[in-house]
Amino acid sequence: MFKISYLRISITEKCNLKCYYCRPDNSPFVYKKEYLTYEEIAKIVRVMTKFGLEKVRITGGEPLIRPNLDELIKLLSEIDGIKDISLTTNGITLSKHAESLKRAGLNRINISLDSLKPDKFFSITKGNIEDVLEGIKVAKKIGLEPVKVNIVAIKGVNDDEILDFVEFGKKYGVEIRFIEMMPIGAEQINWSLNKVRFLTEIKEKIEKHYGKLIPTFSIGSGAARVYKLPKFNVKIGFITPLSNPFCDGCSKLRLTAEGNIKLCLRTDEEIPVRDIVRNSSEKELEEFIKNVVILKEKSNQNIIKSGYQFSDCRRLMVSIGG
Ligand code: 5AD
Repeated sequence: MFKISYLRISITEKCNLKCYYCRPDNSPFVYKKEYLTYEEIAKIVRVMTKFGLEKVRITGGEPLIRPNLDELIKLLSEIDGIKDISLTTNGITLSKHAESLKRAGLNRINISLDSLKPDKFFSITKGNIEDVLEGIKVAKKIGLEPVKVNIVAIKGVNDDEILDFVEFGKKYGVEIRFIEMMPIGAEQINWSLNKVRFLTEIKEKIEKHYGKLIPTFSIGSGAARVYKLPKFNVKIGFITPLSNPFCDGCSKLRLTAEGNIKLCLRTDEEIPVRDIVRNSSEKELEEFIKNVVILKEKSNQNIIKSGYQFSDCRRLMVSIGG
């Protein structure tokens, strides 16, 4: 049977930043009334391990906004079969939380950082870059390894900083990951293809400066194609949903904060699971998830058949999670 190996769990839609490609200012965003509890999330994860689940990532909104996240991490780390627990965060309050999350069982962390220039960082995110840098330093110090830094590459906005990011990777000992900006909630984020900086161009620029990149492996690299610099031990990942899609064999699901299973970022296909988690036994939930797995396999096939048409996902990234 088809396997699910990876679940991304959004635990809140709230965020303390406003990155315009994720949660634009003008969006009439309405928060859901109710979120899954940590126990309910753990129940879903436990059942999914029967279908191959090994890796989970906690995301948001900004997951560190939800109180007592260490309690969820602990619940998840106690589930047999879960081998890897990671977190995507904007890093703003990470320095405060990193230690207790690590103690609870968090293995590693991804941090968003779209510019290294304080003014530009502010104009993209409405946040203070110093907070994020402090978070990165603390994550490194306590060994949340590997620390990965995510950059959504946007034409004319941050694509002048490519080599600076590589140098940042060297200096801080973090993996750098460039991401093509996806049309998630395309209308609301004012997405257009001519804002996308294709990563082939970024790779070429790096190679021109540092020499040919060497393909390598990175823990939990999932959708990223990862390389190493020829002379330095710095890893650089490229996530190319547009220029080089990676849907074949995708075994990733998403769970939204209010309790919908989302099959794929490219579509709006969602399956509500909250009522079943609340009102049914684990056995019944297992039957339900079995059907979800079948639907996921079909969804993959449809996307591949469609020639990887661009996304028609209307939900904003802030309520899905990266
Ligand atoms: N396209 C690509 N990546 C996105 N993210 C958020 N919105 C988008 C988008 N439109 C990613 C960012 C961030 C993570 C939370 O989600 O990389 O690090």
